[in-house]
Amino acid sequence: MSAIPSKIVIAIDGHSSTGKSSFAKAIAAKLNYVYVDSGAMYRAVTLYGLDHMLISDDGKIDTAALIAAMPAIHIGFRNIDGQNHTFLNGVNVEQTIRGIRVSQHVSAVSAIVEVRRRLVHLQQSMGRDKGIVMDGRDIGTVVFPQAELKIFMTADPHVRAERRYKELAEKSRQVSFDEILQNVIQRDYDDEHRAVTPLRKADDALLLDNSLLTPADQMQWFENVLKTTAKRNPLCGGM
Ligand code: DC
Repeated sequence: MSAIPSKIVIAIDGHSSTGKSSFAKAIAAKLNYVYVDSGAMYRAVTLYGLDHMLISDDGKIDTAALIAAMPAIHIGFRNIDGQNHTFLNGVNVEQTIRGIRVSQHVSAVSAIVEVRRRLVHLQQSMGRDKGIVMDGRDIGTVVFPQAELKIFMTADPHVRAERRYKELAEKSRQVSFDEILQNVIQRDYDDEHRAVTPLRKADDALLLDNSLLTPADQMQWFENVLKTTAKRNPLCGGM
């Protein structure tokens, strides 16, 4: 893939289970860009809250205390053997933040305006030097509204449920296809209807519906997009 002479910001948003992070990581690796998983940052704040008893297991959040604790929450990323790892106050929490305990509470934490304000600020500072691919729900709309390239990913809910079903079957988890499909549909609804920065496609984002695309097809699509982006945006130079 041809490199972009001048670095740009690439914002990737979209529905859950569309393979956003795999796609974003592949793009970042190709372009030698930094990859930032913004969802991991909301997950790290949630883990801090759980570990410090600011969030109880039954879901009650001491919002004021969590907001007050934000300056003490330091989140970073490190690449270890080609894999992206999330660090919370110097500790590798990559495994823990993907677990069910964090997953159950992260949506409520991400709805706290002040938590979002601080994480958005941090995300913006990470993109100051450009050369970054960030994925999430509000990257093209709120974090980097001026991003040179915005992509919004979606796929048919049945296709996404099928992918999740296969993943879980490989891990020998017993969940029915219908349950997963309902969960995919519910998460779309929740993401698009929440009060704080609901998920929406930025007007200038390119739509990538990968229902029928393989990862290789998606990279081909991206290659074509890059050529157009370079023509449209002289800052990206000729490719
Ligand atoms: O992408 P994920 O499942 O790791 O995201 C975790 C949660 O954080 C999920 O509830 C959506 C939310 N999130 C958000 O509100 N804004 C972002 N930019 C990224 C994630």
